Amino acid sequence: MSTVDSGAGVQAAADLVAGLPPAPAAWCTGLRKQYRRHLAVEDVSLQVGRGEIVGLLGPNGAGKTTVIKMLLGLVRPDAGEAMLLGQRSADPAARARVGYLPELFRYQPWLTAAEVLALHARLSGAGVPAAEQRDCLALVGLAGRGDDRVGGFSKGMQQRLGLAVALVGRPEFVVLDEPTSALDPLGRADARDIVLELRSRGVAVLLNSHLIGEVERVCDRVVVLDRGRVAASGTLAELLGQREVRLHLTDLSPAAQQRLAALGRVDREGEWSTVALSADDDGTAVPDLVRDLVSLGALVHAVEPVRISLEERLLGILRDGAASRAAGPS
Ligand SMILES: Nc1ncnc2c1ncn2[C@@H]1O[C@H](COP(=O)(O)OP(=O)(O)OP(=O)(O)O)[C@@H](O)[C@H]1O
Ligand SMILES: [Mg+2]
Repeated sequence: MSTVDSGAGVQAAADLVAGLPPAPAAWCTGLRKQYRRHLAVEDVSLQVGRGEIVGLLGPNGAGKTTVIKMLLGLVRPDAGEAMLLGQRSADPAARARVGYLPELFRYQPWLTAAEVLALHARLSGAGVPAAEQRDCLALVGLAGRGDDRVGGFSKGMQQRLGLAVALVGRPEFVVLDEPTSALDPLGRADARDIVLELRSRGVAVLLNSHLIGEVERVCDRVVVLDRGRVAASGTLAELLGQREVRLHLTDLSPAAQQRLAALGRVDREGEWSTVALSADDDGTAVPDLVRDLVSLGALVHAVEPVRISLEERLLGILRDGAASRAAGPS
């Protein structure tokens, strides 16, 4: 093949690649990490799409921070592969467009907030001007505190600065490992707004938080880790899909009780019955039920839809895991 031909070939290949959708913000498969005899992470595969907000949930010690560090190339996996924005995580260059708020961090106490931010802006290589750095401090609620030393900052102020550091390098992917553990309710609301603003700009976010309500409000998808493994994952709709309905009923004849039971498992507490609806219900199950109960002589005082919260679902997943471990050898 002549040089001209191969040049054209390379260009054609480059055009082909340029036409492909961008690589996911983060991707990993079969990640495993063992610390001495303790298996911290086993066979974890997950993906964070561009512009997607993914929540990473699980109890203390589940392996969340270890997975994050392997994704970021900060901890070497014993097995598996990880990619960041289309590059192998092990390559430090892969982190250039990634913002990271670590779980336990401390900035040099003798530096001012503005100096810490300037340092990280320089490290990111993004050439962020001073005015943009100041905007970044204002975004996290530290306007006017740029000249104060970090050593004198409260816990929450340090966490706000950590968030600014994660955002200052114009990242395409932001990883937040418990970003709001020290924040007051206003600070948490601010952090939530910041995450939603990132999504609107197409920036992907991986968010690890024990504040489940927060995850439920902002995340598109959730991955639950338990004892180092993925115990569940899916969109919120998929994970919370099981709906229930609560009915206040009296004059319930045996035939009406049978009709109720035909729908699914019934939990009765006095005059209230809670029934789980099937996942493929097309919206007719409840009106049909009420019509039939009335025709069977029952008095229907109230019908309330119940949607389980992510917190309840999470507890269910973790308890099911514990029960199946207790039931037999894994
Ligand atoms: N550097 C390390 N050396 C030894 N063991 C470690 C190390 N890092 C993590 N581990 C162990 O790996 C397991 C997972 O830890 P990890 O920090 O990933 O959990 P986590 O899910 O982030 O928990 P938390 O919610 O408490 O932050 C734990 O049992 C922990 O003790
Ligand atoms: Mg952790």
